Parts: sequence; structure tokens; C-alpha cells
Amino acid sequence: MPWRTAVVFILFALFPKRAAASVPGPPSSIYQDAVTNSTKAGLAWPNSNYDDISQFLGTGKVQWYYTWSPEPVRTNIEFVPMLWGASQTSDWDNHINSTVQQQHVTHVLGFNEPEISGQSNLTPADAATLWKAHIEPLKGLGVKLGSPALSGAPQGKQWLQDWLAECAGGCTVDFVALHWYNINSTQFVEYLEDYHDTFERPVWVTEWACENFSDADEQCSLQDIVNLMNATQQFMDDTPWVERYAWFGAMVDLQGVNQENALMSAQGQINALGVQYIGAVTPNVSSDYQPGVVHGGSGVSTPISGPNSGSAMTSREISVLCVVASLFPLVMNWY
Ligand SMILES: *[C@@H]1O[C@H](CO)[C@@H](O)[C@H](O)[C@H]1NC(C)=O
Ligand SMILES: *[C@@H]1O[C@H](CO)[C@@H](O)[C@H](O)[C@H]1NC(C)=O
Ligand SMILES: *[C@@H]1O[C@H](CO)[C@@H](O)[C@H](O)[C@H]1NC(C)=O
Ligand SMILES: *[C@@H]1O[C@H](CO)[C@@H](O)[C@H](O)[C@H]1NC(C)=O
Ligand SMILES: *[C@@H]1O[C@H](CO)[C@@H](O)[C@H](O)[C@H]1NC(C)=O
Ligand SMILES: *[C@@H]1O[C@H](CO)[C@@H](O)[C@H](O)[C@H]1NC(C)=O
Repeated sequence: MPWRTAVVFILFALFPKRAAASVPGPPSSIYQDAVTNSTKAGLAWPNSNYDDISQFLGTGKVQWYYTWSPEPVRTNIEFVPMLWGASQTSDWDNHINSTVQQQHVTHVLGFNEPEISGQSNLTPADAATLWKAHIEPLKGLGVKLGSPALSGAPQGKQWLQDWLAECAGGCTVDFVALHWYNINSTQFVEYLEDYHDTFERPVWVTEWACENFSDADEQCSLQDIVNLMNATQQFMDDTPWVERYAWFGAMVDLQGVNQENALMSAQGQINALGVQYIGAVTPNVSSDYQPGVVHGGSGVSTPISGPNSGSAMTSREISVLCVVASLFPLVMNWY
């Protein structure tokens, strides 16, 4: 973890510029066209209580969230705890059973991008051991278990297959979680179909965005993002074996991922893309949309965590986790 980033986040956490309650929501008129037929949409939410989650809930389309951690925030939508990696196991073990009970948890998520060294960085064998000790027992509570979420990099699928082999039948995978960063919505569909065909499980997309990690000059404009979000969200809403999804991301700083993908402004308020994501408007999709053809936006060619990882969450995520962990006894009020 870069210590400077952590210090900044600790300062923000101690002296928040805005209390969640003081952020004004969007005018209620934007919700008049609400598309609320799917309960698949969720929020990948690293913001604790410092950004207002309720401004994403007005249409009812967003029904769940996760925080890359075992710790919920203050909201009424469904919480899905995640065991991000080995560093969270004691927090997980100390709280997960009571969290399951008190938050009415129905699903949990496994490790975050374990095949990436800058992420949870686990070998398939170590991950199988951790899984059996910390995740598999939750089956006894009736909770559905989501696979480790691979980054979208080519080695991801092989990692998951190796992990299943190491588990030797001892890891229950009720659904497969995955991440995807790319620019072609047709390839998104192909990628999900391949995972579904290979693992024969329902699919959750727990991070995705319009981002080219291999060529910084081939990035999505905001219009390209509008088009890609529309096509991919429509596919998932219409496809029964896609159970849930969460865009990357509902946060102020996307940490190197093309910032146009943000669902909120620099001030933490839902923006036009966020309003599209929650189904409050009919998106202005290009009439000549060609999947994979992009028109230039800002973005980086390699994610912060290393080349070709296809990953997004690194320092901010870890910083947020540090902040959550360090401030937990002081300010968190999650039961
Ligand atoms: C809503 O979902 C139901 C069940 O899947 C489906 O039959 C119906 O057509 C959907 N309605 C709209 C407006 O998409
Ligand atoms: C949590 O619940 C599981 C399933 O019932 C059980 O195996 C485990 O021992 C419990 N953990 C604690 C700390 O009580
Ligand atoms: C990124 O841009 C390069 C160069 O145009 C292209 O070959 C590649 O398919 C694009 N997408 C990804 C994920 O690399
Ligand atoms: C995609 O865009 C079309 C045309 O604007 C719209 O009818 C449809 O509801 C959109 N779907 C989603 C999931 O945004
Ligand atoms: C939709 O976006 C296009 C540019 O992509 C713009 O020319 C058009 O005016 C927009 N339409 C509406 C209704 O906003
Ligand atoms: C987008 O992906 C599809 C399916 O792989 C492919 O046929 C198409 O050529 C791609 N578009 C571009 C512009 O590369």
C-alpha cells in the first residue's frame, strides 16, 4: 500500500468534507422513467458512509452492494460480504456469522483477483486452503458462495480451473464471479458465455468498465461508454444465467481506469452515467453504434497493479480497507 495514499484517505476519513446526509440527491423528476424490472444491478462501493449511497436507490433498480470487505455500510439494500484476501480473514472470522444473521446475508463473494500480485495474490493451492477454512463453512448458514473473482486477464480462467482442481471437490461454487475491462460489448457477451459454458454456474460480473489496458490510445469516449454500458447491461438484464452485476465504478476516483466510467462526480453526486446505470433515463445510444470502435478518452495502458492484469482496484481499495480497519472501533456503526 502506498503510504501517502493511505494517509490522505485516513485524513479524509477523520475529517470528511461532507456527511452522507448532507449530499443532496438528484431531483426526483429524473426517476419518472425508471426501469425497475431487474434486481441484478448493484454497487461496488468502496466509499464507506462518506458518499451518499441512497442517491443511487431511487429507481429500485439497484438492489445490492458489496464493499470489497466483510463490512457493510448504512443502507437498506442487500449487503454481499466479500473475503477480499488473506489479510481479511480474522475480521471475517470474528464477524461474518453475526453479519450474516443481522444483515440477512444470502450470498458472499470470494477472493479479489487472486491471480494478480497487486491484488489478493493467492496461488490456487493457498486459495483452496483459505476457502475451506473461512468460506466453505458458511454453507451451513444457507449462504450461497461466489467463486474468487478473476481479473479478466487471460490467465484468470486457468487460475480458476487450477483452483477447482486444488479444492478437489471441497469448495462449493454456487455462482462464478468475474471482472471484465475492455472496449467491445460483443466480446463482453462472448466472455460471459465462455465462463458460463466452462463452469456451468450462474455468473456475477462484480467489476466491469470500458477500458483498454493494452493500448492507452484506444480508449472510450463518454459516448462509447454510454453505448457499451447500455449494450452490456441490456444483455445481462435479459439473460437469466447472469444473476447480478456491479459497474466500476460508483466512486470519485477510478484509480487509473478511464475516469469517464465514473457513476458520480468529483463531489460525490450521481452523474448522468449513474442516472443511466440505475435505469432512470432512456440512454442516448448512438444510432450507428459499432461495438469495439472507440473515439478517444483518457485511460492508461496498464493497470496500476501490473501489466496485463485487467484489474482496477489497487491502492485506493487497499487504502480504504486500511481506513475501514483502523477506524473501525472509532466511527463504524455497522450493527
Ligand atoms: C420483466 O420481467 C419479467 C420476468 O422476467 C418479464 O416477463 C417481463 O417481460 C419484463 N418486463 C419488462 C418491461 O422488461
Ligand atoms: C459460523 O457458522 C458456521 C456454520 O454454522 C460454523 O461452522 C462456524 O463454526 C461458525 N463460526 C463461529 C465463529 O461461530
Ligand atoms: C486495445 O487497443 C488495441 C489497439 O487498437 C487493440 O488491439 C485491442 O484489441 C484493444 N483492446 C484490448 C483489451 O486490448
Ligand atoms: C438501451 O438503449 C435503448 C435505446 O436508447 C433503450 O431502449 C434500452 O432501454 C436501453 N437499455 C438499457 C439496459 O439501458
Ligand atoms: C445524443 O447524442 C448525440 C451525440 O452522440 C447528440 O448528437 C444528440 O443530440 C443526443 N441526443 C439527445 C436527445 O440528447
Ligand atoms: C468486436 O468484437 C467482435 C466479436 O469478437 C468482433 O467480431 C468485432 O470485429 C470487434 N470489433 C472491433 C472493432 O474490433
